[in-house]
Amino acid sequence: MDKLLVHGGTPIHGAITISGSKNASLPILAAALLTEEDVVVRRVPDVSDTNYMVQILTGLGADVERFSGTVRITADDITDTAPYDIVRRMRASVCMMGPLLARNGRCVVALPGGCVIGDRPVDLHIRGLEALGAKAEIEGGNVILSAPDGLHGTTIDLCGENGPTVLGTDNVMMAATLAEGTTTITSAACEPEVVDLAEFLNSMGAKVTGAGTPTITIEGVAKLHGCVHNVIPDRIEAGTFMVAAALAGEGVTLRRVHEGHLSSISAILRRAGHQVKFNESGDACTIHRGDNPVPADIVTEPYPGYPTDMQAQMTALFATTPGTSQVTDTIFPQRFMHCSELKRMGADIQVHEGTATIKGVDKLSAAPVMASDLRASAALVLAALTAEGTTEINRLYHIDRGYEHIDEKLEALGANVERVRA
Ligand code: EPU
Repeated sequence: MDKLLVHGGTPIHGAITISGSKNASLPILAAALLTEEDVVVRRVPDVSDTNYMVQILTGLGADVERFSGTVRITADDITDTAPYDIVRRMRASVCMMGPLLARNGRCVVALPGGCVIGDRPVDLHIRGLEALGAKAEIEGGNVILSAPDGLHGTTIDLCGENGPTVLGTDNVMMAATLAEGTTTITSAACEPEVVDLAEFLNSMGAKVTGAGTPTITIEGVAKLHGCVHNVIPDRIEAGTFMVAAALAGEGVTLRRVHEGHLSSISAILRRAGHQVKFNESGDACTIHRGDNPVPADIVTEPYPGYPTDMQAQMTALFATTPGTSQVTDTIFPQRFMHCSELKRMGADIQVHEGTATIKGVDKLSAAPVMASDLRASAALVLAALTAEGTTEINRLYHIDRGYEHIDEKLEALGANVERVRA
């Protein structure tokens, strides 16, 4: 098990290239099960979550080859069971349900357990697949979905208590591509990762329109075919490095980004007094730390609002921004594990009912800290960049789930970091 040592106080500068999106790659890899032909997915980040997904596909019987960011999948003969042993390692394995059900008419997928960032039920996924005609039974910790008479298009509303569901929208969209007739999803998630999946499905011969809006229409087809697809850039990795630049940067350029996907993050950084400039084509941006940073308030919302996956990182920035900032997470109101670790580094943060109130202090001080989930760990790395002394971040496997070579990218920007054996 590795840990990261961050020797704080070294400014960062220079340029790096942002990797392909983890959260777009996962459902796209799962969607390869919808055809027996060869599928090639490029720019898949080398992180442990995409590795788990490759293991799941292989476990289901697909032939998978992985080289230099490209994953080639041939799923000509697959089983219908994704066991707990695999699902427990990665919640996103639930996005197997839609493709397996559509392809085999039956699937057995272990229900994921609780998650450190919140309860995270899958009721909306199941409700959506039931609306397409599947029968659902829960047995021995598994959900067994079967559709002996096939799936049939209908209108499905996927709004939950906390808004739309990203992977739930993906599951229903994937299943509906092979259903008979037309499916309309209302209250669909509008995230760029959903749009990327829709584009991938369309390259396979699906007929999906409206992705990126709250209403998605899928006209079912009899068969899908192979395709080649480039995954979109990871907007959360980009956002994380944008915050690093606002904290410790003397001019950091991020290449291969998508300006539109970063609007809400750029807006908050500018409001907090930092400079964010995109090139004309919107695929690179340069961030300069502002001379007089000011506090700001954030409320997380579904896209195009401010993403929950970027609230921990911005909390780390506000920890040393003069004045009082507030961060409210409406999507995962319990996602504040990073705050107790930041407090161990000297941050002044109070968390109450889904809102963190952060009073900026002059400086944080290094401490041994514990990563608790992917984005919380990223927040600790960011905080450590300007903290006094050497911060030791344990349980680095959390960060390796979703950030490709984060230590190498930070080193390329001049940060003083070391990955060592714990
Ligand atoms: N929800 C339900 N019922 C459901 C599904 C979701 O009540 O059946 C609730 C959730 O508890 C939450 C809200 O709906 O309050 C939204 O959750 P969503 O389903 O959208 O989350 P997800 O699809 O499981 C994806 C990302 C998460 C990201 C969320 C929200 C992937 C692989 N995961 O999860 O990413 O936080 O959307 O944007 O795409 C991360 O990358 O660190 C991460 C956790």
